[in-house]
Amino acid sequence: MVLLKTIVIAYKKTNLAKLRYLQQKKNMYRSKITGLGKYVPENIVTNDDLSKLMDTNDAWIQERTGIKERRHIKKGDGNSTAIMGVKAAKIALERAKIDKNKIELIVFATLSPDYYFPGCGVQVQDLLELPTVPAIDVRNQCSGFVYALSIADQYIKTGMYQNILVIGSENHSGGLDMTTRGRSVSVIFGDGAGAVVVSRSENDSQGILSTHMHSEGVHAKELALIGPSTAHWVPQIIKENTTATDDDITYYPYMNGQFVFKNAVTRFSEVIMEGLLQNNLKKEDIDMLIPHQANLRISQFIQKKFGLEDNQVFNNIQHYGNTTAASIPIALTEAWEQGKIKKDDTVVLAAFGSGFTWASAVIKW
Ligand code: UT7
Repeated sequence: MVLLKTIVIAYKKTNLAKLRYLQQKKNMYRSKITGLGKYVPENIVTNDDLSKLMDTNDAWIQERTGIKERRHIKKGDGNSTAIMGVKAAKIALERAKIDKNKIELIVFATLSPDYYFPGCGVQVQDLLELPTVPAIDVRNQCSGFVYALSIADQYIKTGMYQNILVIGSENHSGGLDMTTRGRSVSVIFGDGAGAVVVSRSENDSQGILSTHMHSEGVHAKELALIGPSTAHWVPQIIKENTTATDDDITYYPYMNGQFVFKNAVTRFSEVIMEGLLQNNLKKEDIDMLIPHQANLRISQFIQKKFGLEDNQVFNNIQHYGNTTAASIPIALTEAWEQGKIKKDDTVVLAAFGSGFTWASAVIKW
């Protein structure tokens, strides 16, 4: 009898949950970006500066990547991945005109966290002195910010949270091989952070229209940093070979540049198209495309393929290099600061990178 009663109660509860879910589904909320911020270290490193450390030159770097300079954290300047993220987040919060205590979730994207664990999200919770809100760390490299934005969007859509802080931040310079051996990778990457506040939209026709994510792990090692990892603990290496720590190239990022390039142009195009189709939009409806800043040649290829004008695509890789998870929020912030994104514009974010992972977001600003 007691068992039967328990089953009946459980059945009723399940149906209630189903009902609530269906009600929510009907009343799905829309999320929108209400504040943006960026932070880059003051230390500018030009291509000529790099040519003093390795066999490279300004002409090669500009011709192959479009990069003129990047920012690197300087020893003693007090920056780290989490700290730069906090600096960008403070600006985003101020611009969103929101009390930081209203933030209900932190989503932090990076491939260069301050610690192996825990991730930077909890550091942000502490440094910003937020209440004990949850913090999710996203490990999707160049697509990290769009993945993080997608996570935030889902939580707002379902009604679970109303205000979420999304951060992308990278400290690449501390982990690059600054010798000729590492030149094909090291000249590309830079440090910096970008952040956005994502909030429930009062207006259903405004905000994030859709997000799209993909991965293809068969290519994981084509752009990767293998050590340190659980397959490659530092103490083991030291035990086995005391000189290994400096010479072991698995401690530096590896990239099969041309292979990554070829995949990037294909996947960028696909995922942008996917976003447009989902929203019944055409190429000409794009007011601003913010591609992940991987290589100016990739952005130009995409621009040509989609027949977009210069004012429809935003690039700033020339000044910051590739800042991975930070590149889209930095570019989005700069485009917005320069008045290049206006109310009602259709903004498309698109990324591709290590994993491989790729993603896009379509936003009605
Ligand atoms: O953000 C994640 C996604 N990332 C990307 O999508 C990046 C995709 N790949 C690329 O952007 C390009 O492949 C690179 C910029 C990385 C390289 O450009 P590339 O045109 O593919 O050059 P390459 O690797 O084929 O190298 C051409 C030559 C080589 O010399 P040899 O073998 O022809 O004598 C390299 O050793 O350039 C040499 N090289 C350099 N020379 C001067 C490589 N790096 C450098 C350098 N300075 N920094």
